[in-house]
Amino acid sequence: MIKTSKRMSQLGTETAFEVLARAEALARAGKDIINLGIGQPDFKTPPHVVEAAVKALKAGHHGYTPAPGIPAVREAVAADLEKHRGVSVHPDRIVVVPGGKVTMFFAIMMFGEPGAEILYPNPGFPIYESVIRFSGATPVPIPLMEDRDFSFDAGQVLGLVTPNTRLMILNSPANPTGGLVPAEQIDQLVRGLADHPHVAVLSDEIYSRMTYDGKQHVSLLTYPELKDRLILLDGWSKTYAMTGWRMGYGVWPESLAEGATRLAINCHSCVNAAAQYAGIAALEGPQDSVDAMVSAFDERRNVIVGGLNAIPGFSCRRPGGAFYAFPNIKQTGMDAQSLQRRLLDEAGVATIAGTSFGAFGEGYLRFSYANSRENIEKALERIGKLLT
Ligand SMILES: Cc1ncc(COP(=O)(O)O)c(C=O)c1O
Repeated sequence: MIKTSKRMSQLGTETAFEVLARAEALARAGKDIINLGIGQPDFKTPPHVVEAAVKALKAGHHGYTPAPGIPAVREAVAADLEKHRGVSVHPDRIVVVPGGKVTMFFAIMMFGEPGAEILYPNPGFPIYESVIRFSGATPVPIPLMEDRDFSFDAGQVLGLVTPNTRLMILNSPANPTGGLVPAEQIDQLVRGLADHPHVAVLSDEIYSRMTYDGKQHVSLLTYPELKDRLILLDGWSKTYAMTGWRMGYGVWPESLAEGATRLAINCHSCVNAAAQYAGIAALEGPQDSVDAMVSAFDERRNVIVGGLNAIPGFSCRRPGGAFYAFPNIKQTGMDAQSLQRRLLDEAGVATIAGTSFGAFGEGYLRFSYANSRENIEKALERIGKLLT
């Protein structure tokens, strides 16, 4: 009998992929499904970015590249960090990886082991808790609160730190809530972290370019006092509609960049060479497609929030960022899983139960508004009809 490691039984998953598979199966069987479950932009990668990859392939970039990325892509990321976050970062601290998830996996595996505690947002991106458990560490949830627009209380977060805390994961703008942590909470958290120099921070800023109502994304990278213990996660997937290209990066403290590179060498060697050239074109080329996409999301956000609030039993906060709405559905009398199932089976609308994002997601559903306005309106009408 073969026997896998105990740690395999700890590994969770991302339910979004399961819902997607079920929605696709129903669609293949002839059902008209509107997918508001999926967490990726419904836009195409800008043509000049695609062109750069084609050109790279034709020019013969078919081999391995340096593990942390070709120098030009790391330099392009450094220039972008300067432009959008106003921070100068040496390219040596930048490790380009196949997608945002990889920085997350590496950071958690670097700090996690039995006895270690890792703080993570709940409800939050499910892979945090999954990989924390996989590493053997204890996941300690940071509760995100609806009455704070799914931000947190910095004092409460600092109260969760113990001598065993190794890593604190933050995510703003957030999946699944669309919440944005206000600057004063981040300031307070960073001030408090001075008393806990043993805690590293992983700041997942993959939605950094998607904020609304004039609200500003506050990057943890702008706090020089965290320089030696901050890992910044960002990438191309959401900003440039490049989820399938698998391009992400981490900015690591000087002392950890070599370890992250070693993990890359052990794991994937390097990112697809042509994708790296596409990544340079995305960062250095025109940004009008990003602006157009974000303003389309903003318009749909207004439609979905208004529409959800008109459905009996739903109440929805106005998300400050990303492309998700996270309505409270407690007044429907149904739990999140049951409602998710009924919406898919009876209304043909794919959504994700809040519990897919952690125990604190009970009573909520995640709607992605990365779908056309027409589809969003049609979905809202179907849900309204089902629940009225
Ligand atoms: C909060 C968050 N971080 C990271 C990722 C992973 O992004 P990528 O597709 O680049 O691996 C996602 C994707 O949904 C996300 O929502």
